[in-house]
Amino acid sequence: MEPIANVNGRRMPLAEVRISPLDRGFLFGDSVYEVIRVYAGQPFLFDEHLRRLGHSLESIRIHGIDLEQLRKRVLDTIAAGPFREATVYIQVTRGAAPRAHGFPNDATPFEFLYVREFEDPYVEARKQGVVVITTPDVRWDRCDIKSTNLLANVLAMQAAKEAGATEALFFLPDGTITEGTHTSFFGVLGGKLLTAPQSPAILPGITRSLILRIAAEQEIPVREQTLRLQDLPRVSELFLTGTTSEVLPIEKVDQCVIWEGAPGEVTRRLQRGYERVSERDAASGGV
Ligand SMILES: Cc1ncc(COP(=O)(O)O)c(C=O)c1O
Repeated sequence: MEPIANVNGRRMPLAEVRISPLDRGFLFGDSVYEVIRVYAGQPFLFDEHLRRLGHSLESIRIHGIDLEQLRKRVLDTIAAGPFREATVYIQVTRGAAPRAHGFPNDATPFEFLYVREFEDPYVEARKQGVVVITTPDVRWDRCDIKSTNLLANVLAMQAAKEAGATEALFFLPDGTITEGTHTSFFGVLGGKLLTAPQSPAILPGITRSLILRIAAEQEIPVREQTLRLQDLPRVSELFLTGTTSEVLPIEKVDQCVIWEGAPGEVTRRLQRGYERVSERDAASGGV
């Protein structure tokens, strides 16, 4: 099944989409995006993704995007193909205009999305755990905006790939671990589940929020507190979360094996919780 796109309301095969060379998303990374997982034909945590897109748009002052219309376009594009297990990619740029750094007076935002089938590459990794590396966090101060300026993430992920790892974890000069290049990060220390508190240093991960909700339901003690590199020898479990990775146990960081091995008990409980919620939502027609 070929991916199907929708550009400013017009549906077309992804391969037929044309973008201006003066589009500011292309020239400056002046754009924001979302990735949504579709289970059994239903976009998962759709409201949460649209809300985060609204936050990103507002943060970079792209105005006039009708999120309800966008919701309909997403649903219409999913329905246009026999998509069951899929992902939706949405990107909104400030539009095309003669190249100048400041905002143009009259550019029309470019609203682009496409749906593609998703063949889950993490099925085995979720059972066995993955290897990750650590790398300095050289990103900017607004990582809460889901911007397409992803060069630091791209270079860090390439370093991970070259090291035979699945993800790179960013750390700040004081050793604080923020998140992965495309995942949020959790650890279990002293029986408590820890993850970085929400701040401009991390993306407000949609899966992260869901996992915090499931942990609360399961009465797993949680603290929104950062882990540092220095803490790693004492953690019993580590895992990543993300829209396509779901809950991904970490087996080794920089070649050091995590104490309880992967996946640990808390990680497994949260994986089961995630499965229950995603299956329930798909069965009930999405939320
Ligand atoms: C930097 C970063 N952190 C965390 C995440 C995980 O967020 P979500 O659970 O919303 O996919 C992503 C997802 O792409 C990301 O790019």
